[in-house]
Amino acid sequence: MRKTELLKQKILTEGKVEEGGVLRVDSFLNHRLDIEFLNEVGLYFRDKFRGLGINKILTIESSGIAIATITAQYLHVPVVFAKKNVHINLPDEVYIEDVHSFTQKKNNKLVVAKKYLNKDDKILIVDDFLAKGNALKALLSMVQKAGGTVEGIGIVIEKTYQGGGDEIRKQGYNLLSLAKIKSMENGTVQFAD
Ligand code: G4P
Ligand code: NA
Ligand code: NA
Repeated sequence: MRKTELLKQKILTEGKVEEGGVLRVDSFLNHRLDIEFLNEVGLYFRDKFRGLGINKILTIESSGIAIATITAQYLHVPVVFAKKNVHINLPDEVYIEDVHSFTQKKNNKLVVAKKYLNKDDKILIVDDFLAKGNALKALLSMVQKAGGTVEGIGIVIEKTYQGGGDEIRKQGYNLLSLAKIKSMENGTVQFAD
């Protein structure tokens, strides 16, 4: 089965649509981790993003880390993850972005040490979900401040109706999502393609 079909099937059989437009995928992606499934995601991202000179994968704790590490072993690069709400002693040494989370209805601070983002970096960003894209925009901003290049963005599940993906593609980024959900009305998942 093609990987995108495998993921869609998992979303349909294991995903739960919750109030507030949240898709719960705790059984394979956000709480219990299905490693064989994640491995397929890693291989998919390797196939799509190999040959771009990527030297680092950037993600956000916590759910991004599993996807990032399993992809990184195929691209043979290190992973850097943005930390959330850490206490900051040395603001000169970190990039800090304020991100509003509409699922959590609060602001999170994302933090990455400046020494882990460099001007000659060619970065692949990965994450589990893309909704409005606020978290992703914060990562893009950090890479930009560091002077590096984002060569690709790999997302597992994009909710296209929340607009973040299109906005970021319009900026010229090479953004690829394994599954695109165009609607979750009445508790039913509808894929974009
Ligand atoms: P945005 O960044 O795209 O605007 O979305 P949002 O602010 O809502 O993202 C906050 C968190 O919610 C992110 O993870 C994101 O991956 C996740 N998220 C967004 N939509 C959904 C959804 O429909 N289902 C699930 N399961 N997650 C969603 P996080 O809370 O920062 O943390 P973590 O789970 O990675 O620790
Ligand atoms: Na996430
Ligand atoms: Na999440």
